[in-house]
Amino acid sequence: MDRLVIAGGRRLEGEVAVSGAKNAALPILCAALLTREPLILSNVPRLNDICTMLRLLEQMGVKSERDGHRVSLDASDLNNPVAPYELVKTMRASVLVLGPLVARHGEAQVSLPGGCAIGARPVDQHIKGLQSMGAEVGVDHGYVNARAGRLRGARIFTDMVTVTGTENLMMAACLADGETVIENAAREPEVVDLAQCLVSMGAQISGAGTDLIRIRGVERLHGAEHRVMPDRIETGTFLCAAAVTGGDVRLTGTSTGYLDAVVDKLMDAGCDIVGEKTPSFEAIRIRAPHRLQAVSIRTAPYPAFPTDMQAQFMAINTVAEGTAIIRETIFENRFMHAVELQRLGADIRIDGNTAVVKGVDRLQGATVMATDLRASASLVIAGLVADGETTVDRIYHLDRGYERIEEKMNALGARIRREKA
Ligand code: UD1
Repeated sequence: MDRLVIAGGRRLEGEVAVSGAKNAALPILCAALLTREPLILSNVPRLNDICTMLRLLEQMGVKSERDGHRVSLDASDLNNPVAPYELVKTMRASVLVLGPLVARHGEAQVSLPGGCAIGARPVDQHIKGLQSMGAEVGVDHGYVNARAGRLRGARIFTDMVTVTGTENLMMAACLADGETVIENAAREPEVVDLAQCLVSMGAQISGAGTDLIRIRGVERLHGAEHRVMPDRIETGTFLCAAAVTGGDVRLTGTSTGYLDAVVDKLMDAGCDIVGEKTPSFEAIRIRAPHRLQAVSIRTAPYPAFPTDMQAQFMAINTVAEGTAIIRETIFENRFMHAVELQRLGADIRIDGNTAVVKGVDRLQGATVMATDLRASASLVIAGLVADGETTVDRIYHLDRGYERIEEKMNALGARIRREKA
């Protein structure tokens, strides 16, 4: 298993390009299941999670070709509507095949994702929604088995805001008979990006980006081309890395538009952040002070502060001036990075879903272990400011969600090397 060794204490400066969004690309790849015609995608990030999704689709009969950041998919010979445990357990987003499979193929067998490091993460809302569209759904031997003739439009109210749940049901509803209304829908920009792709495939969707999405089902969808939106969490992670090192960085191919909550907090911490936009170019420039002010955050569904940026903000608060309160309201077990940050000398107290982070003058390099994707990113950020060397072990999590993170950070002046363990 690879690890990263980070020599701390270097200020980040320069320009780096942000990749396409993992969490938009994953559902959009699954949208290919809804049509017999080719779906051609650009700006698809080169990540392990994307490879896993392509493997999953391939074993269902979907042909895919990849050329750099371009992926073409052809689901004309869909023949095996099964998502096996071996693939689903490595990536929970595999559940996104469920809706499209039932809608187009009339059946699906998808392994239950099970728990993951950050919490239980059930899929009851995905199941409930499909049932209200007329699917028969049962759970046997760890698999969700769903079957339907043509789905029918329904009014669906999800008990909580769920991102992949909204995406699964929106995809299924595209081929249903009649109108589906999803209430309490997730408003995340990735839901909007998926909706835009579906609309270019012939779907009739309105309200994506609000908590009420209407989908009028059509007989069939056709092929399309779509460019995946920029990764707002990668953007936020690099903003934090620049911020904590007192850096001056321009991130290209991304915009502040998806990141208001994060940008606001970084400005509160003392950073100067501006969006730059011309017809052919979009970028964000951040200039950070020598030392950040502590900033408190509370995670909640979009447009509030994203849970996927919580760990990175804990990292920057460890060396800020003052005390920050961090409240995690989405996942019940998402503070595992705190004990690793403590190994670097951070002063963090956890009480239930609240962490109190008292800024210290310096962190000291040590060996730490990555426990999940965003936790890993927080350890890299801490390593950038810690004295001496920080070794981040088990970085396969990072490779699931960040494209060449050490190369991109090094291009900004960091000194990070990858070692084979
Ligand atoms: C997505 C993102 C993930 C992000 C999360 C929250 C992708 C591929 N992943 O995950 O990076 O951290 O949104 O922004 O887009 N829940 C249920 N029952 C359900 C569905 C969800 O109880 O049927 C609960 C979950 O356990 C969690 C909360 O609802 O507590 C939100 O989860 P959800 O939005 O579904 O997360 P994901 O879509 O899995």
